[in-house]
Amino acid sequence: MFSSFAHLLRLGASGCQGSSRSIATIVSGIKTSKLVRTRLKEEVETMSREFTGFRPGLTVVQVGNRDDSNLYISTKLQAAAQIGIVAKHVRLSPTATQDEVLQCVMSVNDDTSVHGLIVQLPLDHVTHIDTQLVTNAVSPLKDVDGLTCINAGKLSRGDLSDCFIPCTPNGCMELIRQTGVSVAGKHAVVIGRSKIVGAPMHDLLLWSDATVTSCHSKTTDLPEQVSRADILVVGAGRAEMVRGEWLKDGAVVIDCGINYIPDGTKASGQRVVGDVHFASANQRAGFITPVPGGVGPMTVAMLMENTVWSAQRFLQHLK
Ligand code: GUN
Repeated sequence: MFSSFAHLLRLGASGCQGSSRSIATIVSGIKTSKLVRTRLKEEVETMSREFTGFRPGLTVVQVGNRDDSNLYISTKLQAAAQIGIVAKHVRLSPTATQDEVLQCVMSVNDDTSVHGLIVQLPLDHVTHIDTQLVTNAVSPLKDVDGLTCINAGKLSRGDLSDCFIPCTPNGCMELIRQTGVSVAGKHAVVIGRSKIVGAPMHDLLLWSDATVTSCHSKTTDLPEQVSRADILVVGAGRAEMVRGEWLKDGAVVIDCGINYIPDGTKASGQRVVGDVHFASANQRAGFITPVPGGVGPMTVAMLMENTVWSAQRFLQHLK
């Protein structure tokens, strides 16, 4: 889809001129996610024909009422509806106790019409709730976020065909594939080690045969580590932290950040930026994902893919 050959030609041309700089190829998550969603819609139609009226089911459990979570959930519900997945949103009060949240998760685990269950994070709660306990209560067979210890453990050991892969890293891998740059043998650097992005991203790159360096808040020489990356994935949660000057020429740069910064020119008074300073990185990278329109739409598409895969596995066991 993206022409890495054309990119090499452009790099060559700018190299000859000496002073002019190339501009990175933009890796669009909007385009790629649309392709994935179209394919999934067809797969759901096939399932419904073969098992009359069958549709995959997805439930999103939310504790509280955070604005960002409300927005993410409504995007997920819309995507599901468009593909033919039956999506339910269960919202619990911010005063819900840990036991009530666990009860809710258990009851969705027992509902055979639901093939995918996620607990939207972060939890917005007033009483103490152990997030890890709650995410681990999700049945590993319905854990389409890939956050249970069972699925994370399988991923860390390289059992990729037998586990749910967390949606954001899975989407990043799909975007890297779109560049045409092969991962095997490359030096990949991941910034961030969260359970939802950085840690599984490290595992995916490792089992795709990259040599992987994980950087985090205690890494002392971040610019130096970044300068070695053929492939850089950033999930740090800090606006425009990675500067273009740090990058290796031609690197593949995947930006998982979603940060709001003040912008007086916008009616809302703010705009969304990634963890990478786009304008400077665009001058050095070979490929770069935009924010918005890069990793975000892929996260949603991969959630749909995991849900359809889970439903297909459920149907296999009925045969
Ligand atoms: N909050 C932000 N991203 C995600 C995600 O991918 N899954 C869940 N459960 N919560 C999130």
